[in-house]
Amino acid sequence: MCGIVGYTGSRQAYPVILKGLKRLEYRGYDSSGVALLKDGELNVYKKKGKVAELEESMIGKNIDAQIGIGHTRWATHGEPSDRNAHPHSSASGKLAMIHNGIIENYALIKQDLVNKGYSFKSDTDTEVLLNFIEDIQQNNNSTLEEAVRIALKRVTGAYCILLIEQDNPDTIIAARKGSPLVIGIGKGEHFLASDASPIIEYTKEVVYVNDYELAIVKPDELILKNLGNEKITPYITKLDMELAAIEKGGYDHFMIKEIFEQPSTIFDCLRGRLDAKEGVIRMSGVDKHIDQLINANRIMILACGTSWHAGLIAEYIIEELCRIPVEVEYASEFRYRNPIVNKGDVIIAISQSGETADTLVALEKAKENGAFIFGVVNAVGSSIARISNAGAYTHAGPEIGVASTKAFTGQLAVLMMVALNIAKHKGTVSDERYKSLLLELEEVPEKVTAILKNAEDIKIIAEKYKNASDFLFLGRGYNFPVALEGALKLKEISYIHAEGYPAAEMKHGPIALVDENLPVVFIATKDVYHEKIVSNMQEIKARKGKIISIVTEGDMISPGLSNDYFAIPPADELIAPILTVIPLQLLSYYVGIAKGIDVDKPRNLAKSVTVE
Ligand code: M6R
Repeated sequence: MCGIVGYTGSRQAYPVILKGLKRLEYRGYDSSGVALLKDGELNVYKKKGKVAELEESMIGKNIDAQIGIGHTRWATHGEPSDRNAHPHSSASGKLAMIHNGIIENYALIKQDLVNKGYSFKSDTDTEVLLNFIEDIQQNNNSTLEEAVRIALKRVTGAYCILLIEQDNPDTIIAARKGSPLVIGIGKGEHFLASDASPIIEYTKEVVYVNDYELAIVKPDELILKNLGNEKITPYITKLDMELAAIEKGGYDHFMIKEIFEQPSTIFDCLRGRLDAKEGVIRMSGVDKHIDQLINANRIMILACGTSWHAGLIAEYIIEELCRIPVEVEYASEFRYRNPIVNKGDVIIAISQSGETADTLVALEKAKENGAFIFGVVNAVGSSIARISNAGAYTHAGPEIGVASTKAFTGQLAVLMMVALNIAKHKGTVSDERYKSLLLELEEVPEKVTAILKNAEDIKIIAEKYKNASDFLFLGRGYNFPVALEGALKLKEISYIHAEGYPAAEMKHGPIALVDENLPVVFIATKDVYHEKIVSNMQEIKARKGKIISIVTEGDMISPGLSNDYFAIPPADELIAPILTVIPLQLLSYYVGIAKGIDVDKPRNLAKSVTVE
């Protein structure tokens, strides 16, 4: 959460930073700000609201500078406001700092500083850390770099910080622990950001800074050190990302662009891995570690949000195909309890961003206990990808809309291939079933295209139900987690209360909610549960609930029970979730739009949850 950008070089810093902040706005949009340094003058400008509001407030301001830092905030300590916006200025006014993360022991440090006579202009933990750094600098008569190093050894929590100093005309000091930082290397210039999107149009050469590393960044020089002041050789990687991938490309919103990209993102995910004709799946991350995977005593899946839903579907698939016990857990719960993790356990970590703080910390904990970590990650080079012992990227490309869509279907495609691969090696799937699933998987991009052709039908349904105050989503088996995902999508971008349930659980409580005003979305595709779910539809119909169903083409029963329905191509029940989720993504998008919500940046949310 929170996006940070920095620049030092010969260009005007402000336009580079502003553009970068717009690209990083998905990480938080409660307020934004910039600090610009020129000829010993350090100017800090900040504004509550989205980056566009900062931009407007900057008209007529002095923006001439070749070095600067900028921030877009997702509020943790202190309400969204001008004064809590970053950058923060130190007590002397000589330092400016931006921060992504949370300083957990800030209250103690603040008390010490207050006792020394400091007062604070904001409610943030960031201002506390900044004044702590300045206090160390002044008391020890040390350089900023030294003061940062000393301070960071004494703080707990997560941070990525960038600082500039009035008396240091071209240097940015940066450091990270738990929050991401990428440094782009240009000719006589450097770019710093939370991810590569603000950097990509200037250079493809980047360094991913690791935890507990500190960077001293000047136009012509990048020095990396650890907190023990030892130099580290920067490891330069080439970005494999095109500018077009992070732009809207003619769509109104990133979310709808990303929904419509799914035929190609799923194709890219399968490409080079799945060969249905030959009957093989090639995944180097699996192939190299196949013994570890097939001999796993147990698989634990750790994730949050939508990625957790992908994990629930994977649980059903892996247990069915591989006969290995699977447990799926919220990373946020796992990290704070005392879980039993043994050597032969395999942990599958699922994450779009690869930066989710809870997942990352949970993995660190599991790794300490000797577990083998297999990462299913979208963001290449991200922290979770790097902490994993092995893994497979989802190759969905940058996902910018806050609601996860194409990353979810990519996760399902990868997890399906991993399961099939393990099952094949383990001999727990018949040749016939294995081949038919491979063929079915290969057909998914085409079937998604067919679903998207009828997107307008979902728009009509969305218009009809946009004013409902609650929704229920019901599914069984592989489609139960899809019901959870449908409810989450609707909540986040339409602000309508929604719940997902296994359809059979209705009778144990939620059916009391049903009346003529309640839309109930059934994921009722043809599978072994079909007759059962039809009975559940009858039960809702009898209580006058409004039924919207996702059915299989050719189904003659479910549409007759529904007020509205949407048909999708037939698919094996293990594959179906990749298809059934698409109309639900569209439904939430069109309801959100109909309600005038900024679906790419819904209130209170941020794309990448890098704080706990
Ligand atoms: O980047 P991750 O997949 O680790 O993120 C996990 C969740 O924060 C994320 O899926 C969130 O629930 C989305 N906003 C859902 O659309």
